[in-house]
Amino acid sequence: MKIIHKINEIREIIQKEKQNGKKIGLVPTMGCLHAGHASLIKKSVENADITVVSVFVNPIQFGPNEDYDKYPRTLEADAKICEEIGADYVFAPSAAEMYPGLEKFSDLTMVCPPYALTDMLCGKSRVGHFDGVATVVTKLFNIICPDIACFGMKDIQQLHIIKKMVKDLNFSADIISCPLVREESGLALSSRNKYLSEADKKAALTISKALFAIKDGYQKGIKDTKLLFDTAMTVLDPMIELDYLEFVDKETFETVSEINSPTIAAIAAKVGGVRLIDNIIIGE
Ligand code: PAJ
Repeated sequence: MKIIHKINEIREIIQKEKQNGKKIGLVPTMGCLHAGHASLIKKSVENADITVVSVFVNPIQFGPNEDYDKYPRTLEADAKICEEIGADYVFAPSAAEMYPGLEKFSDLTMVCPPYALTDMLCGKSRVGHFDGVATVVTKLFNIICPDIACFGMKDIQQLHIIKKMVKDLNFSADIISCPLVREESGLALSSRNKYLSEADKKAALTISKALFAIKDGYQKGIKDTKLLFDTAMTVLDPMIELDYLEFVDKETFETVSEINSPTIAAIAAKVGGVRLIDNIIIGE
C-alpha cells in the first residue's frame, strides 16, 4: 500500500489502474481512523478492485470557532489500518496542495447544496459546513474519478446531501451507504470521542440511550414525535447541551410529527465542549 501526497501523482496512478480495467473505490475521511471508517474501507475493498482512502482534514468545512487546529492527525496509524484492511492507496494531500492560495477562501469556486438541506439539523449551527463538504468531495471525485464511493450513515445528513449532489451534478460514482458503527456501550464511534474525559464519556452514553429509548417507545406504539422527544429527554444526562433532536423523513428529510414511514431521529449535542452526533432509523 502506498501513501500519496500529490494530486498529479494519484491522478497518474488512477489513470493507469483504469486503463487496466480496474474498478476504483474511494473512501473519503479526515483520518484518525476507527472501526466506523474501517467498515467503509472494507466495503470498498469488497466492491472495487482498487481502494483509495483519502485522509484530509478539510479546512473549509470547519467554522472559525471549531476544532480544525486540534483535530487529531494520525497518518501513520491510519495508513496501517488501511493496509491491514487491504486498501491500495492512501491519498493524504496537504491543505496547500488541495487549496493553493489558502488565505483567499473567498476566491474559491464552491459547491453549494440546496439551502433547504443545509439550513437544518447540523447545518443550522454549522453555517457553511456542508458547502465545504460538498466542495471537497467534488474535488476528490474529480481527482480520483471513483466508480464507487463509501459514506457512513453516522453522518446521515452529509450522506443525503452527497447523494443529492451526485444526482444533480451527474457524477458517475455510485454512492454506497454504510451502517453506523457503535461501541459495545452504544456510543457511536467518532474521531472526536478522543476528546472526551471519563465523565464526559459517561454522559455521552446517554445520547445513544436516548435514541434507543425513542425506538423502544415507537415499538410500544408511540408515533407522536413530541412524546418520543419527551421520552428521550428523560434519558439524557443533564451535563449534555442539546443542539437538536429532530425527526425527519428518511427519504425527503422533511420534519415528521407522526411516524408513519421510515423516519430518522437525529441528535447533536455537546459534552464537555465536544460536539457529537448520532441517529437512529425507526419505522422501517
Ligand atoms: P470523517 O468524519 O472522517 O468520516 C469519514 C466517513 O466515515 C464518513 O462517511 C462518515 O460517515 C464515516 N463514519 C464516521 N464514523 C462512523 C461510524 N461510527 N459508523 C459508520 N461510519 C462512520 O465525514 C467526513 O470525515 C468528512 O466530512 C468528509 C466526507 C471526509 C469530507 O471532508
